[in-house]
Amino acid sequence: MATVLVTRHLPDGALDPLAAHEVRIRAVDTPYSHVELVHAVADVDAVVCVLADRIDAEVIFAAPRLRVIGNVAVGLDNIDLAAAHAAGVQVLNTPGALDETTADLAFALILAASRRTPDAERDLRSGDWRGWSLLDHLGRDVCGATLGLVGFGRIARAVARRAAGFDMTVLHWSHRDTGEPGYVADLDDLLVRSDIVSLHVPLTESTRHLIGARELALLRPDSVIVNTARGAVIDEDALADALEGGRIFAAGIDVYSEEPRVPAALLHAPHAVLLPHIGSATLATRRRIALMATNGVAAALGGS
Ligand code: GLV
Repeated sequence: MATVLVTRHLPDGALDPLAAHEVRIRAVDTPYSHVELVHAVADVDAVVCVLADRIDAEVIFAAPRLRVIGNVAVGLDNIDLAAAHAAGVQVLNTPGALDETTADLAFALILAASRRTPDAERDLRSGDWRGWSLLDHLGRDVCGATLGLVGFGRIARAVARRAAGFDMTVLHWSHRDTGEPGYVADLDDLLVRSDIVSLHVPLTESTRHLIGARELALLRPDSVIVNTARGAVIDEDALADALEGGRIFAAGIDVYSEEPRVPAALLHAPHAVLLPHIGSATLATRRRIALMATNGVAAALGGS
């Protein structure tokens, strides 16, 4: 019997695959502090964690028995993969299990930001709606627009499938030539040609601040940018500046570089649709990714 640390509460049934093991679950469903996590891993064989847990070298080397980490997320930027490799710890994620759900949310943000629906709803709720007008609450069309996908993995492709139903022209950029229709080799070129840009790259050293002030300046004033990938892929201060200066039309953001802190500049920027990292947040998908992680950890632990 192995000992498994589960850092957060999981959906019903997701612990079932670990029934043969001793499972330690944090009593409260709040993130461990780094110090608490270093202590909590000291005598465990496996960890089931979430993207809000920073599993750095200190945590990994504080766990001499650790064999496997199951991250309930597709992104692995919260885990020091080099340290895990050096310590012989297997790292699992949840690829493929949340693509459609996250693509739905990216599309929700594309629509909400393009039509500025939160601004319109705020006016209605605050009593500022003066009645139907030809000139109020004007958005930009999604139907027929050119969508630029930054990254072309599973989630981006799921967004592209949705875009086809909106008669959009879909371009994509990625580090490697995909050889597929719509591939644009130069990111600047993609930004210049797109009406709506949606980010779908993992966070790595080469994608940190991939979209900064210079890249935002390539967008047109009627363009929209959406980020459901990782906050640090975009320079949040530069984004807030671009919105403030009316240099882009709107932004739809689900992810932040230092979650749960949302930069004040973004909170106050006009036409920013801001969500609290809910890309994979449906009942079915959260259950599926949790089960994928616990099944993976159980398989890695084998009969031990
Ligand atoms: C969500 O952001 C994930 O990486 O699964």
